[in-house]
Amino acid sequence: MIFTSVVLAALAANSVAAIPQICTRQSGGQFVPKPGYFPATGDDTIAGGIFCISLSDLGTYLARVGNNPGATGSESPRSGQATSGSGPYPAQAFTDPKLGKHTIFAPKTPPPANVTMPILAWGNGGCATDPTSHKNLLIEIASHGYVIAADGIAGGKTGASQSMVSDMKASLDWATSGGAAKYGSVNTSAIATMGHSCGGLEAMSSAYHDERVKRIIMFNIGIFQDEKRYLLQEIKVPVAWFIGGPKDMGYPNVEKDYKLLNAGLPAYKASLDTGHGGTFAATNGGKQGKAAVAYLQWQFRNDQASKAILLDPKAPGSLVSDKWTVEYKNWEGY
Ligand SMILES: *[C@@H]1O[C@H](CO)[C@@H](O)[C@H](O)[C@H]1NC(C)=O
Ligand SMILES: *[C@@H]1O[C@H](CO)[C@@H](O)[C@H](O)[C@H]1NC(C)=O
Repeated sequence: MIFTSVVLAALAANSVAAIPQICTRQSGGQFVPKPGYFPATGDDTIAGGIFCISLSDLGTYLARVGNNPGATGSESPRSGQATSGSGPYPAQAFTDPKLGKHTIFAPKTPPPANVTMPILAWGNGGCATDPTSHKNLLIEIASHGYVIAADGIAGGKTGASQSMVSDMKASLDWATSGGAAKYGSVNTSAIATMGHSCGGLEAMSSAYHDERVKRIIMFNIGIFQDEKRYLLQEIKVPVAWFIGGPKDMGYPNVEKDYKLLNAGLPAYKASLDTGHGGTFAATNGGKQGKAAVAYLQWQFRNDQASKAILLDPKAPGSLVSDKWTVEYKNWEGY
């Protein structure tokens, strides 16, 4: 089952304690939170960076809160067929020798030159080094005119067990040094980091103290440990969370994170009863695909119909009409 494997991958985020890069506090200098202490970068010795959690801590945490990370909600389908996306620019996965440990999702042929494409860096559930379980979502987004550099390659043989902040940074370096230009006109000022579960925390860790990143988009995840939440003070760009209802281990954490963002910072939070695994593997990423595209089209193309889908419950095809529970703040002027 794809859903189960997504969840297992999410948990595998920290299940490889024997591998040196997933360090323990004792041996590896893992980031240790301390109010007022802000490390220079979001890197850490654990996958997912400073906002993430180690396996032993995750186990302790889940036991304490009683969350079953494999629980599913009422939303279906959770799987579906592969397409080239529903957008105007049929998309596919590419391998790119200049970014060999990643997969590029982009239109099959470059859109007209007047269509400038934002750049997205993507992290997988479990910080897996294989984006296959998210490819329906990523192809869908790319088909609307986006270039996505996703961590990992099909089959996962990148030589690493999990992605790190350094992998997402490699995507940003690649794009900002011209690597994405062969896929069409790109806008290297329109960059978001995004990801699922461990990959979502990697997205936030990668955006931390990196001014290239203009938006953070997190699926089914928030900061686990209360003692790390003070780091949100250093998040200076709008954050969007798409989460999976009360059964999702991200849910209670995002409730806290949303409230703790700096005053005035725009934020968007939408929850759908999927559980932690989401609808990524449904055709075109299912309702998550639709929500992600609407958010990106609003943020990077100022598309007003997309904005209405997100903010106006009465708009045709609104997220609320799709059964998302929506909360947002500080978007005046956007
Ligand atoms: C690009 O140019 C075409 C042809 O002139 C036009 O129809 C289209 O609306 C333009 N798209 C954008 C995003 O400006
Ligand atoms: C590039 O992105 C920036 C930031 O989103 C935006 O202000 C600018 O208008 C974009 N440029 C083009 C040509 O789309």
